[in-house]
Amino acid sequence: MIRDHYDGAAPGWARGATLVYAPIAEQLVARARGAALGHVLDVGAGTGVAEAPLRAAGAARIVGVDLSHDMLTWDRDGRPPAVVADVMRLPFRDESFDAAVAAFVLNHLTDPVGGLVELARVTRPGAGLLASVFANTARSENRDAVDDVARVHGWSPPAWYLDLKENATPLLGSAASMTRAAVAASLSDVEVQEADVDVGVTDPRALVDYRFGQAQFAQWIAALDPSTYAAVRAAAIDAVGRAMQPYRPRVVFLSARRNR
Ligand SMILES: C[S@@+](CC[C@H](N)C(=O)[O-])C[C@H]1O[C@@H](n2cnc3c(N)ncnc32)[C@H](O)[C@@H]1O
Repeated sequence: MIRDHYDGAAPGWARGATLVYAPIAEQLVARARGAALGHVLDVGAGTGVAEAPLRAAGAARIVGVDLSHDMLTWDRDGRPPAVVADVMRLPFRDESFDAAVAAFVLNHLTDPVGGLVELARVTRPGAGLLASVFANTARSENRDAVDDVARVHGWSPPAWYLDLKENATPLLGSAASMTRAAVAASLSDVEVQEADVDVGVTDPRALVDYRFGQAQFAQWIAALDPSTYAAVRAAAIDAVGRAMQPYRPRVVFLSARRNR
């Protein structure tokens, strides 16, 4: 059975991590370039950051998929239909969707080509496929300062996160590797761009809330009493505030089509 490493992460994700992931989702969906989106599959949908840009871009219907029930049920009343499933084995018939979006989920796979092939299977010929991952070269001293403060206060990266960073994330984290994967999955019209994204995070409080909203911190934060967490957050804000740079994460974007 596959473990849900995002269990318990939804509130932090929705209130914090979204500050960075939502602007990137907007940029990802913009890569559809006005193409009719129709019935869209949002894989690794999480708390739903891609849904508003998809609707704004004209998606007629959206279906979310995620391994994490917790992430999918965040704000459930306002969300499209969704199913808990693995992107490697999607519970849909061939050619069910007109487009698919995979925001920061293919980087969780040790077989990203297999993930792209599965997305192609459930989309119709010619359908648009959009994906994003962080670049392997993405660096931020401010983000590292937040992690350092967490370590000083007893956090250590969970084993699943170390495994992800070692065995999955590096596989797609460059324009060259994303292009190779898309070609190996027999996608066409492959366009890959590596870009620094201005996510509008210029305030140390926003950077800290983004970072502490990520799943690798969720269990540790949940175990802290509120006053301890407030002190850790204040220390992280102080550490970042000394030399805050606007946060501009480097992202690899894929836009492609399922072969006709
Ligand atoms: C980094 S979060 C991104 C969430 C959302 N797309 C966003 O941009 O905010 C990755 C999401 O992918 C989900 N996920 C990880 N591996 C998955 C898999 N094999 N199949 C489906 N979902 C997966 C996680 O549960 C998590 O919700």
